[in-house]
Amino acid sequence: MSKELLKVGVFGLWRGQSHLMAMNYIEGVRIEAICDQNPERVEEAKKYCPEDVKVFASYDELLGSGIDLVILCNYLPDHAKCAIQALRKGIAVVSECIPAATMKECVELVEAVEETGVYYSLAENSPYGTACLEMERIFGTGILGDLVYAEAEYCHPSSPKNSGRYSPTPDHWRRRLPTTYYLTHSLGPLMNMTRMMPKRVIGKTADNSGYVKARGGKGKADNGVMLVEMDSGALFRVTGCVSYGPQTHWFRLACSKGGVESVRTAEDTVCLAINPWDLPEETAHLGCVRYYRPEPDALSKEAISKGLPNVGHQVTDYRCVRNYIAEIREGRTPDMDVYRACAMSAVAILGWRSVLDDSRQYDIPDFRDKAAREQYRNDDLSPWRGEIPFCVHRVE
Ligand SMILES: NC(=O)c1ccc[n+]([C@@H]2O[C@H](COP(=O)([O-])OP(=O)(O)OC[C@H]3O[C@@H](n4cnc5c(N)ncnc54)[C@H](O)[C@@H]3O)[C@@H](O)[C@H]2O)c1
Repeated sequence: MSKELLKVGVFGLWRGQSHLMAMNYIEGVRIEAICDQNPERVEEAKKYCPEDVKVFASYDELLGSGIDLVILCNYLPDHAKCAIQALRKGIAVVSECIPAATMKECVELVEAVEETGVYYSLAENSPYGTACLEMERIFGTGILGDLVYAEAEYCHPSSPKNSGRYSPTPDHWRRRLPTTYYLTHSLGPLMNMTRMMPKRVIGKTADNSGYVKARGGKGKADNGVMLVEMDSGALFRVTGCVSYGPQTHWFRLACSKGGVESVRTAEDTVCLAINPWDLPEETAHLGCVRYYRPEPDALSKEAISKGLPNVGHQVTDYRCVRNYIAEIREGRTPDMDVYRACAMSAVAILGWRSVLDDSRQYDIPDFRDKAAREQYRNDDLSPWRGEIPFCVHRVE
């Protein structure tokens, strides 16, 4: 897409505000339109928009407003349907997680991208965190040898007040979200660092009723974990969004010559360890184990020099938004293309089936393979429509 200005529309204006904010610091983008049925969210979002931004309460109107790209930050179970609608109109799509909520939707989304040839990417921001980028760099040098095992945890305990903000109504999608479904912040970075694809999954949940009761809460009390076998033979252990502490986002690559990991609760710090007998002579003086904060990369320096506040995950979001805008403008294949995105959805969905099926192992289909899609073409089981349970442990 070689247009002077890429005209962007953002659908869903809570998470959507992070995309809008980052776009203010990126050249070649015009925030053309925003859409939310909630007027308070619209007012909050306007502070990141030009004065003449078009405002809609209806997604159909947003798609009809002349935009080149839509960012989907709406309700999770609606992502695939909205993405397909935009792709069929020739509008590029960037979707928040997870990209598809059923196996049938995975098949339909892959086929819509193939048939239209329009840009589609998952907006997974976690791989653009400082520690993840450094781990990706280190692993890419080959110094650690072969990947054997990897781990990632996304731990997000929240106060009763915050839980209310995240799931404001009894029918809000988060209240029926199976614990394994929110996995792109853990599996996504590991897939990005290693470029490996999932082949099989086993799921299991831990009961967290004590924590939920102590906070006076009700409902789901599952903390999900998945073992994922990758196409290289490496094994990953990843969580969904789990509610135990400490609040952290943690990653580990365990390799034949050593390992690299982030540090729990000090997320911009990396620990690199190399077996003493595998230390290259030229770096032997640095020792086997090093904890360090990577030097700021060019993109974070760029963002901060332009005035982006360096708080929360705003620099991470900036890198993510800048990357998808650059991919579209330069016609590049997305880092998180539809096959990788749907593979993650499939791990989430089949990982949950494994939980419900006494931890039976499930194969993850290769969505590039047309024959492999057939098994799931009509598999539309959804926890939001009550066709499968959305939790195992709960507090009444
Ligand atoms: N990558 C991250 O760090 C991150 C963080 C938070 C949320 N997310 C993802 O972003 C998405 C949105 O999450 P959220 O926390 O903002 O959720 P939310 O449910 O609070 O917000 C969704 C917004 O979309 C609007 N909306 C939904 N359907 C609509 C419709 N048909 N018409 C008009 N408006 C509509 C709602 O009014 C609401 O304001 C989710 O997929 C979530 O997984 C990602």
